[in-house]
Amino acid sequence: MGEIRNVGVVGLGAMGAGIAQLCVEAGVDTVGREVSAELGEKARDQIGHFLTRKVEKGQLEQAARDEAVGRLTLTTELDDFADCDLVIEAIVEELEPKRELFAELDRICGPAAVLATNTSALSVTEIAAATTKPGRVVGMHFFNPAPLMPLVEIVRAELTADAPYETAYAFGERIGKTPIRCHDTPGFVVNRVLIPLLNDCIRVLDESRVTPEDLDTGMKGGAGWPMGPCALVDLVGIDVHVHASEALYEKTREPRMAPPPRLVAMRNAGLLGRKSGRGFYAYD
Ligand SMILES: NC(=O)c1ccc[n+]([C@@H]2O[C@H](COP(=O)([O-])OP(=O)(O)OC[C@H]3O[C@@H](n4cnc5c(N)ncnc54)[C@H](O)[C@@H]3O)[C@@H](O)[C@H]2O)c1
Repeated sequence: MGEIRNVGVVGLGAMGAGIAQLCVEAGVDTVGREVSAELGEKARDQIGHFLTRKVEKGQLEQAARDEAVGRLTLTTELDDFADCDLVIEAIVEELEPKRELFAELDRICGPAAVLATNTSALSVTEIAAATTKPGRVVGMHFFNPAPLMPLVEIVRAELTADAPYETAYAFGERIGKTPIRCHDTPGFVVNRVLIPLLNDCIRVLDESRVTPEDLDTGMKGGAGWPMGPCALVDLVGIDVHVHASEALYEKTREPRMAPPPRLVAMRNAGLLGRKSGRGFYAYD
């Protein structure tokens, strides 16, 4: 274990594309895998677009931008991960596809490679159990959008060995994130606290008949939050928040984790927040 020269990112959706961007910006050769060449190209275009905006803002030189984009290789074949020292998985949030993927990566990657999952709510230990070397499996839980949010939770599963764990921690620092260490428990650290708290906020909307605007004003002005809870749920995506709440509720059976009916109704009606143009607030 030790130096990371080549990284693989599996799944170049919202999170994977952001993680791949961080890797290439940090000067690391990166292989990105999507299910089709078109989806891979779409992610590369998006990364190129974000890096161009950094050039326009004077945060990055044009030559450095071009070099960064050039460090990303696209593939649809998992075999292209054979030389990777670290693979970060960011595919759909479902246990079986992740377990199947880790079993394949375990077969394809060299014995010293570290395998990381970006799961938000699944058990890293259960994913690791699909491999023959669970000691090299860790969680690297980034936050959305990965290029902008500083935190990465470095999650130690039941059988994670020290060296791969520290390799993942050091890599988080190397790509400019602020890593914290934690064990594999439902919601890890931030979501374990934030999800029930946001659910409480939404329940208060009905209990105290405060408006979303006033609730947001209240939490900003009275609790020092940088953003109100309704604006935050709109930003995260109401479908994403409901899904994460359900997953945590299933694991913990704590009533506060269950998604409030109001949010479930909004999700069912397609009011998903910013991405659908309407949630608690309307967006152009
Ligand atoms: N969106 C968030 O706020 C957030 C935050 C932290 C962690 N996560 C976690 O990150 C992971 C990805 O979430 P997302 O929001 O980026 O999802 P997404 O749907 O935007 O992206 C997933 C991508 O993976 C691709 N994919 C699916 N199976 C694949 C496979 N076998 N090989 C290669 N690509 C495959 C899909 O085509 C899709 O582009 C999930 O585990 C999620 O829980 C999400």
